[in-house]
Amino acid sequence: MTVPTDIIAPEAVTRPIDFHKDQVRIFDTTLRDGEQCPGASMTSEEKLEVAELLDEMGVDIIEAGFPVASDGDFESVREIAKRAKNAVIAGLSRTGVADIDRCGAAIKPARHGRIHTFIATSPLHMKVKLNMTPEEVLAATVAAVTRARQYTDDVEWSAEDSTRAEIDFLCRCIEAAIDAGATTINLPDTVGYATPQEYRGMFETVRARVPNSDKAIFSVHCHDDLGMAVANSLAGVAGGARQIECTINGLGERAGNAALEEIVMAIRTRADVLPYETGIEATMLNRASKLVSAVTSFPVQYNKAIVGRNAFAHESGIHQHGMLKDANTYEIMTPESVGVSKTSLVMGKHSGRAAFREKLKEMGYELGENALNDAFKRFKDLADRKKLVYDEDIAALVDDEILNAHDRIKVAALTVIAGTNGPQSAALTLDIDGEKKTHQATGNGPIDAIFNAIRALVPHEANLDLFQVHAVTHGTDAQAEVSVRLSSGGPSVTGKGADPDTLVASARAYIAALNKLTARGERQHAQHAIG
Ligand code: KIV
Ligand code: ZN
Repeated sequence: MTVPTDIIAPEAVTRPIDFHKDQVRIFDTTLRDGEQCPGASMTSEEKLEVAELLDEMGVDIIEAGFPVASDGDFESVREIAKRAKNAVIAGLSRTGVADIDRCGAAIKPARHGRIHTFIATSPLHMKVKLNMTPEEVLAATVAAVTRARQYTDDVEWSAEDSTRAEIDFLCRCIEAAIDAGATTINLPDTVGYATPQEYRGMFETVRARVPNSDKAIFSVHCHDDLGMAVANSLAGVAGGARQIECTINGLGERAGNAALEEIVMAIRTRADVLPYETGIEATMLNRASKLVSAVTSFPVQYNKAIVGRNAFAHESGIHQHGMLKDANTYEIMTPESVGVSKTSLVMGKHSGRAAFREKLKEMGYELGENALNDAFKRFKDLADRKKLVYDEDIAALVDDEILNAHDRIKVAALTVIAGTNGPQSAALTLDIDGEKKTHQATGNGPIDAIFNAIRALVPHEANLDLFQVHAVTHGTDAQAEVSVRLSSGGPSVTGKGADPDTLVASARAYIAALNKLTARGERQHAQHAIG
C-alpha cells in the first residue's frame, strides 16, 4: 500500500513517548468525545485554549478531534498539533483510507502525533451499523492500522462496543491489530454497560490470551450510562490497562465519559489501593473544569465530585464543628490540592490594578496588557455596583472578556422597560464592526424584547435552542451568568455573558453566540473559496 508523497514525508513519522511502567497515561478526549455531546461544540479558538491548558496540565495524549468530520475539525487538530509542547496529539479516524489520510495530514505538524483508528466489534454493531461480517471487520482493522503506521509509529486501535463483543473474535482482532503495528489497544465500554468486575475481567482475559499483548499498551474508555465510568476505568487499570481515556467534567455523549478530575484524584487520594501515578498537575483541575464549562456552557453539577461548587462546602453544624477542630474529619483531600482557594472573598472597589493582576495570576489567568485593562475596567465597574466581589465574580467577568474579546458585534447600550404593564420594550445599541446601530423593539417580556431588537439589528435565521441563567454567587446583587445556544443548520453554538444585570448578561450571551455563528459561517465561506 502506498501513501501519496505530498502527504507523507519521512520527517512526518512521529514516535511514541517513553513512559515508565506504572505510570497511567491520561488520554483526554474532551475535544473529541466531549465535543460530540449535543450543544457542547467549541470554536477553533476555544479548542486551542482548552488544548493549551491540557498540555500545560500534564495530559499525556490530547485527542484533538476527528479530522475527516469537517474542515474546521481538520484545521483545529492541525493547529493544536503545531502548538502542543509536551502532549501527544491524536486524531480520530474510522478505518477508511480517506479518514486515515486526512488524520495523518492533520497530525503531521505534531512533535508526537497519533492516529486513533476504530471500528465496531460487537455482533449488533457489525450487523446493524456497519453491515459487515466479522471477517470484513478484521480485514478493515489490519488495513487501517497498516496504513496509519505509514504516517506515525504511534497508532491506537479501538474495538468500539468491545464490552458487548464476543471474546474470541475480540482477541483475534487485537492480535491482528498489534501484528499490523498498533501500539495502543483501546477497549471501550461504548454504551456504559459493563460492571467493574466484568470490565477488569475482560482486560485480564485478553492480556492472557492474546499472544502478542505485551507489545501494546491497553487502554480504558468508559461511558457513564449507569454511573460507573470512573469505577470501570479504575477496574480496567487493575486488569492491566495503562491508559485512561476521559474528559474534563465528564463531558461526552449521553451521560458522558469518565471524568478526568475524578480519576486523577482517586489515584492520588487512594494511593494505598491504587498504586499508579499520573503526570497531571492536580492544582490545575479546577481551572480546567471552569474553562471547559465556560466554553461549552455546560454547567458543572453543584455536587459534582472534585470540581462541583459544593465539593468542599460544609453546611451542617456537626460537620462545621468537626472541620474547625481538624479538617481531616470531613475532607479526604484539600480544596487547594485541586486548585480551589479557601478564601473566596477577595477584592473591593479600592483594590488597585497591581492587586487585580496579582489576583488573576493566582487564579491562573495570564492576560495581555489590553485584555488586562479591559478586565480591570469591568472589575471596577462591578465593584462599584456590588459590595462583595468574589473569585467566582472575577472568573465570570474575565471568562466573558477573554471569550468575547475578538467579537465583531458588541453590546454598547441597553435600556429596558419591564413590569406588569406590557408590552415590554428594549432599546438596544450594538457596536457592529465599529459602527453603532440602535433599535427599539417590544416583546412578550423583556428578554423577548431584547432578542427581537438583536434580530432587527442583525437579521438572521438561527433557532434559539437554550436560554439559561445562573447566579455566579449568592445574594441579590450577584452577577448573572447567562448561556444562549443557537443553531442554524449545523452544530449548535453557545455564548455566555455575565453582568449583575440579568438583562444585560442575556443580551451579551445572545450576541456572543451570534458572533460564533457568524465566525463559523465566514470560516466555511473562506474554506470553500480556497478549496
Ligand atoms: O465510545 C467509543 O467507543 C468511542 C470510540 C470512538 C473510541 O468513543
Ligand atoms: Zn466514547
